[in-house]
Amino acid sequence: MQKKMLMTPGPTPIPENVNQRMAEGMIGHRSSDFTDLMNSIKPKIKDVFGTKDDVVILSSSGTSSLEAAMVNLAAPDEDIVVIVSGAFGARFRAIAETFPYNVHTYEVEWGDAVDPGHFKEFLSKLDNIKVVVSQACETSTAVLHPITEIGQIVKDYDKDTLFIVDGVSSVGGTKFNLTESNIDCLISGSQKALMLPPGLAFVAMNQTAKQKVQSNDIPRFYLDLNQYFDSLDKDTTPFTPAVSLIQGLDAVLDSIAEEGLENVFERHMKMRDMLRAGLEALDLELLVKDDFASPTVTAFKSSSDELSHIKDELKNNFGITIAGGQKHLKGKILRIGHMGYMFPADIIVVLSAMEGILSKYRQQNYYGKAITKAQEVFFNDL
Ligand SMILES: Cc1ncc(COP(=O)(O)O)c(C=O)c1O
Repeated sequence: MQKKMLMTPGPTPIPENVNQRMAEGMIGHRSSDFTDLMNSIKPKIKDVFGTKDDVVILSSSGTSSLEAAMVNLAAPDEDIVVIVSGAFGARFRAIAETFPYNVHTYEVEWGDAVDPGHFKEFLSKLDNIKVVVSQACETSTAVLHPITEIGQIVKDYDKDTLFIVDGVSSVGGTKFNLTESNIDCLISGSQKALMLPPGLAFVAMNQTAKQKVQSNDIPRFYLDLNQYFDSLDKDTTPFTPAVSLIQGLDAVLDSIAEEGLENVFERHMKMRDMLRAGLEALDLELLVKDDFASPTVTAFKSSSDELSHIKDELKNNFGITIAGGQKHLKGKILRIGHMGYMFPADIIVVLSAMEGILSKYRQQNYYGKAITKAQEVFFNDL
């Protein structure tokens, strides 16, 4: 028997009360039980997304929200800019290239964040850009981009250019304010900081973006957001939704409200800072500079042999699952997810396990070193 800890950057652990809510029993999606459920969710989910407008719920994985944003907010033959700083930016570009758009890529070195000055210059050289797309947190590198600065640059370029942000690995763990950050559309998925199983995707957008959805005549069916907005007005969904996950979502939103949104964001920042301090005490190099470190996932470098040893030992001896690198970062980094139902105590556990693993592997004494640093961060901050 072994207690398991899931510390990947999605899926993430599910709180017991959420599991219980999802097991409560099926309800008819055309019944008043379901409209009551949607009615309960609608205002609460807006707070988490930092918007006053409606948030569409799709019963499909996070990628569907990327495609929904793309195909509803860009019209045929329009010029769009995709910021690519890792695997998910590359996926966004691949989606964009599937449709009849003129796609311009702004490449960022993996592990770096967008440099606002450089991006401004890049954008100023392009004409007639209608949409700019970026990740908030690029999960594959653990970078949090300066979204508010990018949003300002987009609107200075042209106030009618739409700014779409992929918040799949940040909504629920990172603060958003769509108006303040000039975000027209923020998308997300269920299996990360929102503490649910995979299977739901979310699209939040302001009225300007909504108008574009209405006027856009690009062909689409399941992901035509007009149907979802019409249904939301009636507290329902156009197609059969993943009812159990939506029941769980209601419980998640109550838990977040109970802890307090600001406290949730602070907890994520604290976990990030504790983990970073601890990893450095283990002589592990962090992939991302402090200024752009995501509150939800942390990546560190080492030799390929050492990384696979750490990952295997965590799994085999401690039941802790963490993630490797993606694409060309495979074998070069490991990533530890710390979002959703995850607490400072979990950071202490993973660091403590790593102290032992590395002490033995390197024949050097790391006992107590990482958790001392992490506790200093935790207690000094109180
Ligand atoms: C930033 C980001 N965007 C998009 C996705 C894709 O979501 P999904 O795998 O749920 O389709 C992920 C998943 O890890 C992600 O982290």
